[in-house]
Amino acid sequence: MPELSRRISHFTESVIRRMTRISNHFGAINLSQGFPDFDPPEELKEALIDCAKNGPHQYAMTWGARNFRNALAEKQKKFMGIDINPDENIVVTCGSTEAMMAVMLTICNAGDKIIVFSPFYENYGADTILSGAEPVFVPLHPPDFNFDRDELRRAFEQKPKAIILCNPSNPTGKVFTREELLYIASLAEEFDAFVVTDEVYEHIVYDGNEHIYFASLPGMKERTISCSSLSKTYSITGWRLGYVIAEPYIIDGVRKVHDFLTVGAAAPLQEAAVSGLLLPDSYYNSLKESYTRKRDIFLSALDKAELKYTRPQGAYYVMVDISEFKAASDVEFSEWMTEHVGVAPVPGSSFFRENINHLIRFHFAKKEETLLAAGEKLLLLREKIPMRK
Ligand SMILES: Cc1ncc(COP(=O)(O)O)c(C=O)c1O
Repeated sequence: MPELSRRISHFTESVIRRMTRISNHFGAINLSQGFPDFDPPEELKEALIDCAKNGPHQYAMTWGARNFRNALAEKQKKFMGIDINPDENIVVTCGSTEAMMAVMLTICNAGDKIIVFSPFYENYGADTILSGAEPVFVPLHPPDFNFDRDELRRAFEQKPKAIILCNPSNPTGKVFTREELLYIASLAEEFDAFVVTDEVYEHIVYDGNEHIYFASLPGMKERTISCSSLSKTYSITGWRLGYVIAEPYIIDGVRKVHDFLTVGAAAPLQEAAVSGLLLPDSYYNSLKESYTRKRDIFLSALDKAELKYTRPQGAYYVMVDISEFKAASDVEFSEWMTEHVGVAPVPGSSFFRENINHLIRFHFAKKEETLLAAGEKLLLLREKIPMRK
């Protein structure tokens, strides 16, 4: 039979989705793949019922339905603090996943370098490979996941086309400080690179940490390509609604790629999601409060199980240190834990370029009772584990 493309041999299937399958097989509590086990706000569900009855049911405009773009521009203008023209600065995509891929295909030529912080959300590896680019990894050093300024400068000295910035960050829970962002901005300017952001956790930050939109930094609007989505903010990961916000000449390119990739995001879902984009500020405050409670419940379960972790500042993940156990690898540990403890994590090595395998990641976008049940199971970890040092 004919060979498949060389392109696809350079990355493996998603480790996260594999852990979900293992979790389902053993009937474990799945804290691997980051999606909620609770419903979106009533407003969105009601609006969806209305769309089912009254439409639209046919293609929306390829770069996004007008109502959706108008509502999104208003909301993001308020939070990002920049001017956004719904007709010139937005492409609506099938999730942030498509947004990132469409952006990479728009800006990269074969061999272009792209800076990626490691650990990284696994899509960025595939995004760079599929767009013909070459990742240049810069470590975020555990346990605090800070970067070394000289290491980052050396990466910029390789003249990258762009840096990908996931903030708030999956998997680390890091929220970049203004100082760190300004340093990245100064390098992007000096070496004339784009900054491609992934800000899907823009509304999920803790303990007074502030999410600073990169595009809002002085002089950065022109070189920032902001990608985000409604998946996490409105608990609708299955609706597949995301977007790119950027300067018109970039948006023109992304529109072309997006049109041939997917034509467009689902028309009825865009229409129904307008009700989410119109929610008042109190919604975002209560989202933050609700995730803070979930985080506190889960961290307290980790404390009771005497597990060491890095306290997340944002997003809904926590990295746990398993170096006290004698597992051959984090993969072995994760699979064992899923089968015998009944809680499924993701092996941390799947996020790192470096050879780091003493970390696992849990997510806590779950109902409080699910997190409490996971906590009960984690208490049995030490009794059951054969991998003690
Ligand atoms: C950092 C990050 N970016 C993007 C995504 C995917 O977002 P979407 O559902 O909008 O494609 C996720 C999902 O877990 C994520 O963690």
